[in-house]
Amino acid sequence: MLTISDLVVRYPKANENALDRINVTINKGEFVCVLGKSGAGKSTFIRSINRLQQPTSGQILWNDVDITTLSEAKMRNVRSDIVMIFQHFNLIPRMTVFQNTLTGSFGRRSPYKNILGLFSEEEKERALKALQEVELEKHIDKRVEALSGGQKQRVGIARALLQDPKMLLGDEPVASLDPSTSRRIFEILKRIHEERELLSIINIHDVNLAKEFATRIIALRDGQLIFDGQPEEVDERMFADIYQ
Ligand SMILES: Nc1ncnc2c1ncn2[C@@H]1O[C@H](COP(=O)(O)OP(=O)(O)OP(=O)(O)O)[C@@H](O)[C@H]1O
Ligand SMILES: [Mg+2]
Repeated sequence: MLTISDLVVRYPKANENALDRINVTINKGEFVCVLGKSGAGKSTFIRSINRLQQPTSGQILWNDVDITTLSEAKMRNVRSDIVMIFQHFNLIPRMTVFQNTLTGSFGRRSPYKNILGLFSEEEKERALKALQEVELEKHIDKRVEALSGGQKQRVGIARALLQDPKMLLGDEPVASLDPSTSRRIFEILKRIHEERELLSIINIHDVNLAKEFATRIIALRDGQLIFDGQPEEVDERMFADIYQ
């Protein structure tokens, strides 16, 4: 369970809070989509949860552990529960699909093994299975730079799966993809979410996709949480309110 209390983020020299006293509790099994126009605070919110962004004040409890005050060493344990999927994939273009996927196990290995690039048979087996889950097994030896956007994002998901996550965070994972590819990525994310009983939080601009896939929608405006409810509650009036 993720319990966020009075979360505030203020960037240096900013006049206003990027996140202004956010309170929300999210349970395992929930697939939450976060809506809000550009600058609303969506990325700041997601990045605070895995502490890519240090909160200014407030509390973020992940299974009763306050991650805002953990040492970097202890934060490493928490980060192994959490995976993040990015808009621009964050892959290594000249490496193959298989090699990129294998880098997902880096968090769990000793650094010297990473340098030597030694992967066990078990790790290779897991990478192959993850690539099957995202239906990319036919492309394992292709360089990532030769893939389409949707295929690249599927590599991003396969890499994330190698970490055996409990929480899935997405910062606009489909923002650079066309509508049908975006839908396909959401289908895959939702299937994985359900099979692995994850807690998922995904920023997204496409309200229709959010309404189709989310079990719960939250909306931010000027750093404040202005909506928290069921997808069907996001009607035209609410839409106008979020994007005004
Ligand atoms: N590194 C930073 N330094 C200073 N201000 C920042 C920084 N990152 C974001 N901000 C500001 O914080 C606010 C929230 O930004 P954030 O990136 O979280 O919004 P967003 O909802 O993700 O927007 P978008 O839809 O464009 O990605 C904005 O006013 C933004 O200008
Ligand atoms: Mg953003």
